[in-house]
Amino acid sequence: MWCPPATWTLSWLGLLGLAGGATAPLPGHSIPNPPDVHHLAKLWQLTGTAMPAHNSVILTPGVADRVGTIFSRMPLKTNDFEASFTLVARAGVPGFQGDGFAFWYCEENASDLLASASSKHSHNQFELVAGTWYQHYAMLDLSEFGYKTHYKGLGVFFVKDDQGQPVVQVKYGDGTSSVGHQTPMELRDGYDHQVKVRVTPDTVTVSIFSKGEAKGTVSSPMSLKPGGYLGFSSFGGTKDAYNPKERSTFVEIKGFEVLNYASGPGEDEVLVAPPIGAAQEKEDALGAHSSFKEHRDESEAIKELTNMIFKLVIESKPQREQMKAAITALSKRIAAVEETFRTLKKELDKKTGHDLGAEFDAIKKELADMHATAHRDTDARGKKLADLHSDIEHVHKTASSAGGDISGDLDSLSRSNEQVLDQLSNQHKRMFGVSIFAIAFIIIAGLSLYNKFRCWEKKHVL
Ligand SMILES: *[C@@H]1O[C@H](CO)[C@@H](O)[C@H](O)[C@H]1NC(C)=O
Repeated sequence: MWCPPATWTLSWLGLLGLAGGATAPLPGHSIPNPPDVHHLAKLWQLTGTAMPAHNSVILTPGVADRVGTIFSRMPLKTNDFEASFTLVARAGVPGFQGDGFAFWYCEENASDLLASASSKHSHNQFELVAGTWYQHYAMLDLSEFGYKTHYKGLGVFFVKDDQGQPVVQVKYGDGTSSVGHQTPMELRDGYDHQVKVRVTPDTVTVSIFSKGEAKGTVSSPMSLKPGGYLGFSSFGGTKDAYNPKERSTFVEIKGFEVLNYASGPGEDEVLVAPPIGAAQEKEDALGAHSSFKEHRDESEAIKELTNMIFKLVIESKPQREQMKAAITALSKRIAAVEETFRTLKKELDKKTGHDLGAEFDAIKKELADMHATAHRDTDARGKKLADLHSDIEHVHKTASSAGGDISGDLDSLSRSNEQVLDQLSNQHKRMFGVSIFAIAFIIIAGLSLYNKFRCWEKKHVL
């Protein structure tokens, strides 16, 4: 009897499975849209900017210098599967460096790795404000869009290449380096794009569809092991001269679905969440025909607004904290300076025994008065000078118009001047004669006195 080898049977089964499309959904690794927060909290780990919104999971709202990650807490038990998701990305202001996001199927438990890193660093308010959290992430090897640079497994990157052109890369990492292929693709247009990541035991193919049409495909051979962890991560980028109002690329995921192509189970059964989709449909059917439809729309809008405000509050918190701290520090310093000044004044008053403040005021007043007086005097003097000037001018004019008349006056003036001078010199001469006479008299008197002394000496009176 002929028995087919076991491998034949297996491959036939596999072929049948492919032909018949025998794929099994893996709800424990899928995220329905709108996301259910209980399901997310139980099966996924979210850090940083990744947060559920009312009809998507936001990876990054475009905040610079922040990471966001979402990873499955449980491993996938198959290496033959398809992960598909709807991606919406909106470009922010130009000039950001290093922003981008990635899809992962990694060998390590990323949630475990990121749990302590995020609570100690990327969720640490002080490190966020000081801008130091990233150094710690880099030291922990977490600088590839918030996940490991030296990862093991598959990374699909939606990034900009060295020339700044948007590309999609499919790369295999072995823990030291990564290799793969890439294709140019711009997805940051705000429209829905369907991304399918088909993982088979020997190849990974990423296909992207926009409005139902194929937009591009990248494929790279690699053999991934079952037991990897699915997830996304993103980095908001950095910018020189960054204004906090500026946004980098906004990225959100609208629904994530994983199909198992292998024949075995793709995940643990305990993970399966309650059928959220069914409940949602029922409620929608009810909602559409209810008389409270308008009211419901309104509360839906309010919910959306609340979400938005919450996000804004969260994003602007670091800046507000910083500003508050700066203002508090400044007012404290001013108070200290005032206090010192007051003490100094008191001390001075005590030492000198005067009220220096009052004295200072008095001095100030005096100075002001002096200034006013000086000003007045200067004005008066200036005025006099001006008068004199105009007088001189007047005289000059009169002189030039009167001609000889005044020259006669001048002549008489000079004559009288001469007379005065003569008189003065005569007096001087007379004075000189008198003084000569006086000197002669003194000399004669002296000599006679001297003679008398000599006579007394000879007679031995002295
Ligand atoms: C992976 O890590 C997370 C976070 O520490 C933990 O909750 C989860 O149980 C881990 N998964 C496995 C399979 O150990």
